[in-house]
Amino acid sequence: MDKNVIEVKQLSKSFQKTVALQGCDFSVRKGEIFGFLGPSGAGKTTTIKLLTGQLKSDGGDIQILGEKPFSSKIKSRIGIMSDNSGLYEKMSVYDNLLLFAKIYDIDKRCIEKVLEEVDLLDAKKQLVSQLSKGMKQRLIFARTIIHSPSLLFLDEPTANLDPSTANEVREIIKKLNAKGTTVFLTTHNMEEADEMCHRVAFLNHGHIIESGHPEDLKLKYSKKQIRMKTSQEDYTIPLDPKLLKQELEHIDELLMIHSIEPTLKEVFLTLTKEES
Ligand SMILES: Nc1ncnc2c1ncn2[C@@H]1O[C@H](COP(=O)(O)OP(=O)(O)O)[C@@H](O)[C@H]1O
Ligand SMILES: [Mg+2]
Repeated sequence: MDKNVIEVKQLSKSFQKTVALQGCDFSVRKGEIFGFLGPSGAGKTTTIKLLTGQLKSDGGDIQILGEKPFSSKIKSRIGIMSDNSGLYEKMSVYDNLLLFAKIYDIDKRCIEKVLEEVDLLDAKKQLVSQLSKGMKQRLIFARTIIHSPSLLFLDEPTANLDPSTANEVREIIKKLNAKGTTVFLTTHNMEEADEMCHRVAFLNHGHIIESGHPEDLKLKYSKKQIRMKTSQEDYTIPLDPKLLKQELEHIDELLMIHSIEPTLKEVFLTLTKEES
């Protein structure tokens, strides 16, 4: 049975005159990758900080693994990766993790295990300053998951990464999720969300404007058309089985046929246009 590991009701937060979040409601189920999507300034980082007890809300209710975000009971059960996850460049891969193992008071044997998980075991003696960008990113990941958290908060984990490093990070996230880790992921990359997330919520100016399974959202906002390409013409017809049947009866040479669904990005742009 699905259980909600995050439950948020009417969450609001302002900074002086800036309203960062206003009346947000959402929940995240155990075992899913939940994408929190929105452009820069939408309120994604603020949400992660509120959910992880780094900021206090102005109003609303947050339950994380059945506890309040400030509860000491959840600290060991969550992992947080944000853009300021600095590493100690002059220390080795292993020593960077040893430091965190000590902070979390966990067995040193976890270090080798987690290095294996992010495919860095062979590099354990290397200095961080000698690592490639992709390896550093994997080390940050290792640090985030060294205590085996069941819930991960990842704030734009692939922003500013080159395509192949971004892919490495996405593969690690998928691997962890396949083993049962629930992931709360913020991103402004709609293609990434479409590829990775079981469910998404669109955030714009501090409001959730739509949420659901990426595929369902694309179908909901589809113009329901079929593109037909013959040797003579390239045209669209309404997505209707009867019409399609009639159409096919008098086509000699069909080159291509497919239904047209919007991308997640197009859905988002349509919704934000309606809002403004
Ligand atoms: N500490 C802060 N002081 C003042 N304004 C802030 C602070 N943190 C965030 N904001 C404002 O809140 C809004 C949401 O910011 P943020 O959550 O960082 O967005 P995102 O992560 O989606 O880019 C923005 O308008 C931002 O300028
Ligand atoms: Mg942010």
